[in-house]
Amino acid sequence: MDATRYVAALDQGTTSTRCIVFDHAGRVVSVDQREHEQIMPRAGWVEHDPTEILRNARAVVEGAVAKAGLEAKDFAALGITNQRETAVVWDRASGEPVYNAIVWQDTRTDKICAALGDHDTFRAKTGLPPATYFSGPKIKWILDHVGRDRDVLVGTIDTWLLWNLAGVHATDPTNASRTLLMDLDTLAWDPDLAAALDVPLSVLPEIRSSSEVFGHLRDGVLAGVPIAGMLGDQQAATFGQACLSPGEAKNTYGTGNFVLLNTGTEKVVSHNGLLTTVCYQLGGQDPVYALEGSIAVTGSLVQWLRDNLGIISSAAEIEEHARTVEDNGGVYFVPAFSGLFAPYWRSDARGVIVGLTRFVNRGHLARAVLESTAYQTREVIDAMNADSGVGLTSLKVDGGMVVNELLMQFQADILGVPTIRPVVNETTALGAAYAAGLAVGHWESEDDVRANWAQDKRWDPMLDPTARESLYRTWKKAVTRTFDWVD
Ligand code: G3P
Repeated sequence: MDATRYVAALDQGTTSTRCIVFDHAGRVVSVDQREHEQIMPRAGWVEHDPTEILRNARAVVEGAVAKAGLEAKDFAALGITNQRETAVVWDRASGEPVYNAIVWQDTRTDKICAALGDHDTFRAKTGLPPATYFSGPKIKWILDHVGRDRDVLVGTIDTWLLWNLAGVHATDPTNASRTLLMDLDTLAWDPDLAAALDVPLSVLPEIRSSSEVFGHLRDGVLAGVPIAGMLGDQQAATFGQACLSPGEAKNTYGTGNFVLLNTGTEKVVSHNGLLTTVCYQLGGQDPVYALEGSIAVTGSLVQWLRDNLGIISSAAEIEEHARTVEDNGGVYFVPAFSGLFAPYWRSDARGVIVGLTRFVNRGHLARAVLESTAYQTREVIDAMNADSGVGLTSLKVDGGMVVNELLMQFQADILGVPTIRPVVNETTALGAAYAAGLAVGHWESEDDVRANWAQDKRWDPMLDPTARESLYRTWKKAVTRTFDWVD
């Protein structure tokens, strides 16, 4: 172990790609970031150009290393973390994608999912309900669409990047656990599920662990550096938040919100609409599982307000507008843009704004947008408490929206437990860096991860419980208004 060396993390997210360089104390040394195009050919469809993502990935690695003033020999490893479920299919010989990546938010596979029939088998083996969110149906759609006579390889974004950067066709169990194709007990592709989804096993990547040397960067400024960690972004954030013991949970406020509760080596089956998923697997150790509450639309609702309605000119402005009013003025915004994910899993739902009167202004709308993130989080935390039988006593938070103090206070108010923000808010990249650094001995054990974690700020609940429950009841009523909108 050489504490003067660094670890880089490549964080390929839904809207942008970032590379962050971390020192041995887990502090951010440099960051480089590029956004990519959101391609929406029709309602409900969301695509990314895999070649643009790859170009951006290479560029941000160069950028972050240059900004840090470092070179390959200064790096112990690189970790990859990624938007999960987004599926890519490419030509095995040329490496060219045969279709755009179909993004996790995309709902075009609703008929494929409805036709899968036996939901219990999928739930029992994979921990997931057959829903448009997951990659298996997206892979089937692409293969059906481009024809099945082509010699292709398939992967989620981690695999696409690894194959291009290091020439290795592999994934990790956290990403594989989001495909509807992996057996959660064996951590292997399940032939029956693959057959049900018409996905040949021969096109799928090898499932390795989340923390081991996958290969080495073939070119660029970090040529020769091992890629030694790979995990889905929400699992990476859980790791970066040091939620390493059963009962510890985090909530990441990104494009969507994702609450993950570490359940240890025990696989907890949800009876309340949550997912069972792999949290991480370090080398040859037993896998650690998590319960997950996935919310499709939170931060992306703020972007929608900015880009589609033009009501705000920057995401930061939303807090200013929300602070011009005392409350939501009776307005509730349920952003069921991709149907509703946890705990409902309703692809028939579409977004609604309810409670409008002539009194309502931009401030109330801004407030309703922020509050929707907190209410949706409360719904998945309630489900988690019901599944685990234990009430959460605090919630570690991270992600873009946690700079929003009004939201963080309201979140604590509506949950009735404190929200806690860490000093290093870049938990997703940090988790991938830790996974990579642990694999090569740059960090010795999970205790190093725990020791590096520190609190920045904590918000305690201030709302009286009767008011809290009354607001939440009205939210629940608003949610019912989204149902049965599409067939
Ligand atoms: O499951 C989707 C999730 O991985 C996307 O995360 O941060 O890109 O919104 P993010």
